[in-house]
Amino acid sequence: MVPGNHTQNSEFFLQGLSEEPELQSLIFGLFLSMYLITVLGNLLIILAVSSDSCLHTPMYFFLSNLSFADICFTTTTILKMLVNIQTQSKAITYEGCISQMYFYIHFAVLDDFLLAVMAYDRFVAICHPLHYTVIMNPQLSGLLVLVSWIISALNSLLESLMILRLSFCTNLEIPHFFCEIQQVVRLACCDTFLNDTLIYFTGVLLAGGPLAGILYSYSKIVFSIHGIASAQGKYKAFSTCASHLLVVSLYYCTGIGVSLSSSATHSSRSYATASVMYTVVTPMLNPFIYSLRNKDIKRALKRVVLMAVIKREIVLSLKKCP
Ligand SMILES: *[C@@H]1O[C@H](CO)[C@@H](O)[C@H](O)[C@H]1NC(C)=O
Repeated sequence: MVPGNHTQNSEFFLQGLSEEPELQSLIFGLFLSMYLITVLGNLLIILAVSSDSCLHTPMYFFLSNLSFADICFTTTTILKMLVNIQTQSKAITYEGCISQMYFYIHFAVLDDFLLAVMAYDRFVAICHPLHYTVIMNPQLSGLLVLVSWIISALNSLLESLMILRLSFCTNLEIPHFFCEIQQVVRLACCDTFLNDTLIYFTGVLLAGGPLAGILYSYSKIVFSIHGIASAQGKYKAFSTCASHLLVVSLYYCTGIGVSLSSSATHSSRSYATASVMYTVVTPMLNPFIYSLRNKDIKRALKRVVLMAVIKREIVLSLKKCP
């Protein structure tokens, strides 16, 4: 690590999605609304799960952890972009860039691991229904969440510490709307072989590992559902994992789609545009997929809204009293 190498250039510049001045307010409005919908939707999921004791099961705890990770992920990536558009500045400090990198990698990997944990949960629920409460006890589900946190924290710590050893020269324009690690490494004017290798290996390991777990769990689930004789039983078993399957496909399809489109176009700008899919659209759709398909979540959400209305009525009626 060479401290002092980066002191003369303590800022990076985020180019954002477009340079066109007339597009800025459109982009701002669009991203602000998507950001608010994401935060509100995921917050409602967390509220619904924590307020309804029927939803105090591992599956819904994992879901609310996923919602929490989604809120943090979009906040780290989108908020700085919104602030920059509003203040008409492109600058982000060196420290800001490194911390943004740390947090977005942390929550992206956490998302990935939580999806795998949820797949394992569905596997136990469908393939070992009688032992579900014994296997998926609070200790194990807490441990799974904890391990996911530790792995993603260590990984993002390693990746962002490795950025500190790079020195940057003159071109500090990042062709993206947040400090995407690959784009930052590309700007370094020293040997980046170690960083590229690390990004590649951790990428393959941390995306491939959970994906292998998810595929394994679902192959067992499909096999198990296939063995159920009645059509009604088949449907019932399938419907408990349909939302999760939809979310997993959304995450991986957008991720793979973005990687493919970036290798096909070689243009950093279109890569940035494509990554809007997994940074904003996927976390935004997540709560909708769960709440629209799931009776329990719908019921809990209705209760949360009802409680809010009742509280407001009580507060208003109290105010009216002399
Ligand atoms: C995350 O999961 C753990 C373990 O299941 C649970 O105790 C905790 O309440 C969850 N956190 C959130 C924010 O839902």
